Amino acid sequence: MSTAAVRAEGVIRHFGDVKALNGVSIEFEPGMIYGLLGPNGAGKTTLIRVLTTLLRPDAGTAHVAGVDVLANPTEARRRLGLAGQSAAVDEFLTGEENLHMIGRLYGLSKRDARKRADEVLERMTLTDAANRQVKTYSGGMRRRLDLAASMVGRPEVLFLDEPTTGIDPGSRIDIWGLMADLVDDGTTILMTTQYLEEADQLADRVGVIDDGILIAEGTADELKDEMGGSIVELSVRDADLENTLGALTSALGAGISFDAGRKLISVPAPNGPLELMAVSRTLDAASLIPTQLEIRKPTLDDVFLKITGNGESASTAAGGES
Ligand SMILES: Nc1ncnc2c1ncn2[C@@H]1O[C@H](COP(=O)(O)OP(=O)(O)OP(=O)(O)O)[C@@H](O)[C@H]1O
Ligand SMILES: [Mg+2]
Repeated sequence: MSTAAVRAEGVIRHFGDVKALNGVSIEFEPGMIYGLLGPNGAGKTTLIRVLTTLLRPDAGTAHVAGVDVLANPTEARRRLGLAGQSAAVDEFLTGEENLHMIGRLYGLSKRDARKRADEVLERMTLTDAANRQVKTYSGGMRRRLDLAASMVGRPEVLFLDEPTTGIDPGSRIDIWGLMADLVDDGTTILMTTQYLEEADQLADRVGVIDDGILIAEGTADELKDEMGGSIVELSVRDADLENTLGALTSALGAGISFDAGRKLISVPAPNGPLELMAVSRTLDAASLIPTQLEIRKPTLDDVFLKITGNGESASTAAGGES
């Protein structure tokens, strides 16, 4: 039997013509936070639904905490927790009542269920709102209650689908702290996120899913290293844009892109300062003065845009401009 926290192989799930999952294999050890990144519609929620027994795949296998989720869904449910992308709590009950009910469903005594409810409410800083009906909660409070609900059963593996979407920055940091505490207590977490910075901060491993396929995996640093070094970024006055792109492209070759939204020109800089100096010399020779010029390390955003292909439009735009 596998000891991996999650092990899925060749998971396929189609909805009619939509190939939501197209052969996903994923495996990671207990005791970590695994961050699953991907654009809207990539298949993240579908994968979580398969792993948490809510959806049967068309093909493939999936184990959570060593339990085959397809063969033994009841046993798997005992070992996993889920905070889905949309709320799963009862609007008309109070926060405390919701959590108490979930504790009872997990087989806790009344007393233990109450104790556990109070513990997780406090961890989620919801104690003051514990006795209010959920329908009076703000969006962020509901999200926190959802997370609290997923922790009541002390799961071995916790699945969090966009745990911090719609949560203010302060509370987001609280939730990050809470997730780290859970891992210290022995819980393994698989989280999806749209915030690359969040995966960078929290996740021990990062997987990128696109069009139902896992297209990259590694630590955040490994993924960044694949970008090959640093990036020189500069902006110029609108009137100078075309000339600048032309000059840089003839001096430094391909790979130069322009992000029209941020009005930033990016130049790959595998050798760091060397490319920065080359950019500077090229601009100087053409009597072009940038309004901003800097060199920086790649972020997970850069990786994400590059491998999901969403960055292509930037280079195409540059090609069109020059
Ligand atoms: N029950 C369903 N019936 C039909 N199509 C579905 C169903 N569930 C998901 N899909 C489709 O499968 C694809 C993957 O959806 P999924 O919800 O897994 O994406 P996601 O990565 O979670 O996206 P998001 O970031 O928007 O939450 C999408 O094209 C979606 O429309
Ligand atoms: Mg989703």
